[in-house]
Amino acid sequence: MMLDVKDLRVSFTRERLPPVEVVHGVSFSVARGEVLGIVGESGSGKSVISLTMIGLLPGTAQATGQVMFEGRDILRLPERDLCKLRGNRIGMIFQEPMTALNPAMRVGAQIAEGMILNKGLSRKAARAETLRLLDMVQISRASERIDSFPHEMSGGQRQRVGIAIALASNPDLLIADEPTTALDVTVQAEILNILDDLVTDLGISLILVSHDLGVIARIADRTLVMCQGEEMEQGATEDILRRPSHAYTRQLLDAMPRRARASLEEGA
Ligand SMILES: Nc1ncnc2c1ncn2[C@@H]1O[C@H](COP(=O)(O)OP(=O)(O)OP(=O)(O)O)[C@@H](O)[C@H]1O
Ligand SMILES: [Mg+2]
Repeated sequence: MMLDVKDLRVSFTRERLPPVEVVHGVSFSVARGEVLGIVGESGSGKSVISLTMIGLLPGTAQATGQVMFEGRDILRLPERDLCKLRGNRIGMIFQEPMTALNPAMRVGAQIAEGMILNKGLSRKAARAETLRLLDMVQISRASERIDSFPHEMSGGQRQRVGIAIALASNPDLLIADEPTTALDVTVQAEILNILDDLVTDLGISLILVSHDLGVIARIADRTLVMCQGEEMEQGATEDILRRPSHAYTRQLLDAMPRRARASLEEGA
């Protein structure tokens, strides 16, 4: 297993109050080349779990259990090693790409930065590699776009740049927390297809987080359903869609637009 999470609990310290636990003992694993979807309503703990996987929980958080990544427990790694993991092995894609982008820096330079810092590439080699990545995330006219600033791009293009930045570290594992929520449905579908292709072509693993079961259903091999910090169920996405074993999952299914459900059934 690429990632093996056992009995993960996360709590936050509070002033003058006892700590509050928000993830209550969750276990899951992700194999190489596999897409795990994590779905659940707002506040179910999806982002807290994602941040735990890359060692980015705030200092007020306390995590227990095990998060084994390639044989090492992320919960017990010193910050130096976590930094290295983030630069080389694990990439993160955020909901709002602007949060990951520097508004004052050309996008090409932002993608290249990590390759120069972490991989020791020359500027010239990094630029060539950046063009390749921009092609991979299907930015048209990449050689013109490479010198744009983020504000000169559409939301969809910015998210493609966000994916390219995550890919620049050559990751084994990508974590995408609501990567398409800020985008309209057409662009949403394009971004999901890009992620799906990356997993197939590069053999990387992906954790895809969404409150929308329709998004998860499109590309996740397996799905973990969360509610208020508890695991409701997990299994093959097909099984979960066809035979949800939990009432909460049925609610999520019912909440999907009728047309999305119909197209899932056609595909099934
Ligand atoms: N920094 C923090 N300090 C204290 N509590 C936090 C912090 N971050 C998250 N929480 C709490 O942890 C719980 C889970 O939050 P989380 O952000 O993981 O939910 P989510 O499933 O990602 O929701 P959404 O779909 O809205 O993004 C919530 O009750 C939230 O209030
Ligand atoms: Mg969230």
